[in-house]
Amino acid sequence: NQVEIGIDAITKGGYSHFMLKEIMDQPESIYNSMRGRLVFDEGIAKLGGLQGFEDRILNSRRILISACGTSWHAGLVGEYMLEQFAEIPVEVDYASEFRYRNPIVTKDDTVIFISQSGETADTLAALKEAKKKGALCLGICNVVGSSIARESHAGVYIHAGPEIGVASTKAFTSQLVVLSLITLLLARRKSMSLEEGREVITELQSLPEKVEKILKQNSLIEELAEKYLLAKNFLYLGRGYNFPVALEGALKMKEISYIHAEGYPAAEMKHGPIALIDYDMPVIFIATKDFVYDKVVSNIQEVKARKGRIIAIVNEDDTQIEKMVNHVIRVPKTHSILTPILTVIPLQLLAYHVAVKKGLNVDQPRNLAKSVTVE
Ligand code: G6P
Repeated sequence: NQVEIGIDAITKGGYSHFMLKEIMDQPESIYNSMRGRLVFDEGIAKLGGLQGFEDRILNSRRILISACGTSWHAGLVGEYMLEQFAEIPVEVDYASEFRYRNPIVTKDDTVIFISQSGETADTLAALKEAKKKGALCLGICNVVGSSIARESHAGVYIHAGPEIGVASTKAFTSQLVVLSLITLLLARRKSMSLEEGREVITELQSLPEKVEKILKQNSLIEELAEKYLLAKNFLYLGRGYNFPVALEGALKMKEISYIHAEGYPAAEMKHGPIALIDYDMPVIFIATKDFVYDKVVSNIQEVKARKGRIIAIVNEDDTQIEKMVNHVIRVPKTHSILTPILTVIPLQLLAYHVAVKKGLNVDQPRNLAKSVTVE
């Protein structure tokens, strides 16, 4: 028994849970996802796994992304990235819906399957379906040699390293890195300038350092967790690139703390969720400075007018929002397509600390499995 405890402690790298270790691993796992894949001179990404397939992807009628859970949220961010910069229409689907909907997929489509484990039954079934219909099937997986990686025509490994905690953390940020690399690869063949390509690369390279800065706020986030421990519901709001982050933040909270949490596009609040807002409904805004910043600020005012308590994820230099909300967590600025890689981290930590303070089994939450190999 003593030996077992020893091994456990080693694999957790001195942390009390795998989930915390994996959150803290992110400066390194993010770096590993881009290592050897950036060509600064050309402002482009080099992805061996897609070699020979670039033209077919670029000439696709559209790109479909199919995944489940956290990987589906990564897909939603991918949709924003690819439509904006690779200029190809993108649709994102839950793998479980895709496979039962008789989707119209042809040989002119590229379908990207995102899966940490590479074994999720619904995603694998969707892949087989798309393959049968003649589409080019790409896998974005973490586990090397997994079923989805083997069944795909081509793909990119995220190289995040083993993820043990059931709630996915570092795999998500690495999936986002890889999606940004694919975007860069395609976008530079479209209208993205050399200058912007280089800017994305410089920003990618500075991510590990920026993530470190966010992780240093761990004790501040732990204090916030203490304050909101007894909440029965949480609302997460974001727009643009931060909308999928709102969904992912809410999913983390649900998965491990068993608190009901909903993610919404901030502007949709007025079409329903606003009715729920009162003092007992903490609202988390992801409000970094981008093209929808002013709109998010007005959403914050609407929540404030209804006495909702607000935690806002803002940029380091933000002076406007802190005057309007109860708490701010600051993240460094980066290129718009990389924003979710930074803004999700405080939300991972918040969910983690709430669950720990509630005495729950963080690494193995009830009713959930790391890899769902049944329907
Ligand atoms: C399960 C896990 C989630 C994960 C989802 C998809 O539900 O609990 O954390 O996001 O499966 O897993 P995959 O391995 O395909 O990314």
